[in-house]
Amino acid sequence: MVADENHRKAGLVNMQADALAELDFYLPSMTLNDYLRGVVPIHPLLASALDFSRPGADKALRVLTATTTEFDSDDTGRGDSYRKAQRDSSVRWTGIRQLLELASASAVEPGPPARPCTVLDVLGGDGTLARAVREQATDLSDRVVILTGDLSGEMIERALAQGLPAVRQAADHLFLGDGVMDAVLLAYGTHHIAPQGRLGAVTEALRVIRPGGRVVLHDFDTTSPMARFFTDVVHPHTEAGHDYPHFSRDVLTELFDEAGTPAHVIDLYDPLIVRAASEEDARRRMCDYVADMYGVRAYFDSLGGTDSCWRLLENCFAHEEYLATLPQMVDFTPRPVVYPANGAFVAEIPRSAIVAVAQKVV
Ligand SMILES: C[S@@+](CC[C@H](N)C(=O)[O-])C[C@H]1O[C@@H](n2cnc3c(N)ncnc32)[C@H](O)[C@@H]1O
Repeated sequence: MVADENHRKAGLVNMQADALAELDFYLPSMTLNDYLRGVVPIHPLLASALDFSRPGADKALRVLTATTTEFDSDDTGRGDSYRKAQRDSSVRWTGIRQLLELASASAVEPGPPARPCTVLDVLGGDGTLARAVREQATDLSDRVVILTGDLSGEMIERALAQGLPAVRQAADHLFLGDGVMDAVLLAYGTHHIAPQGRLGAVTEALRVIRPGGRVVLHDFDTTSPMARFFTDVVHPHTEAGHDYPHFSRDVLTELFDEAGTPAHVIDLYDPLIVRAASEEDARRRMCDYVADMYGVRAYFDSLGGTDSCWRLLENCFAHEEYLATLPQMVDFTPRPVVYPANGAFVAEIPRSAIVAVAQKVV
């Protein structure tokens, strides 16, 4: 009975239900019907937010289920090694925390929150951000509930297997109702959305948030060391390549202006940080993390050891010139470093991101 109610709420009854519900396969091991009947009822956030009945949903579903992404597996690109790297949710926590604070700021009133802020993580992978909140910040986990979205069925099935609320959808057609979320985050891979789909993605993000809610879009400036690392190292040394245009401040501003909700753009310190017992172990752990996350292990192995890999990272992530071009002074670590802290050694790779923050008019 509950399942039928959720099935109805999710809007399936309005859209050639039988044909689409049995679509092979919404997720690698599940039809849409299985998902609506077996998964949605377990997660109140899915039950209240999903809507598969909007115009165009049938076409979006067919495109989605015919899509393979580089994040599905190592056979299609770097999915398995990417997920392996993300098992340690502490590495990117500095940036993740700031993004979630920015997204949820409009929902936070002084005193204990009446209810947690709901955040859709559009490019959520297998739930890295949701896991990070659970593992790194009990204070934030009372304030923020994350709904993980992703294009990849493999990613979403793995998020669900960890008990996280998750939905397979494309950024430019969200299977969510109007105004059902407090905030939307587009981060860690926004450049993967094709330029022609970016206005649609921002428009969709603004549609699904309530008035007063925020859309936060994070990426790396086309002139930043991170974008250069993708072009000079990831693109030539991975099977799938990495030919995705990044963003600039102007492009971000124009995008939100065009979507009808102006944004302000800030610089955000978003480092990679690992800890280990010795200086050498800290460097090695960092090289391993980067090798898996960006799918460049074979290339790193060919360099002949941790020292050469670390030197490559030092060259690629030197930020002095880039930081000098920023519109405002920032206090970011300018180059990769290893330093002792609390009886261990920390390796830190700086990354400077650009972030657009927009608030939907009330
Ligand atoms: C770099 S991963 C980031 C995953 C996760 N947020 C993290 O930080 O570990 C980028 C993710 O975006 C997803 N993705 C790419 N294009 C997308 C699109 N158009 N709509 C939704 N997700 C997309 C990919 O499948 C992939 O899981």
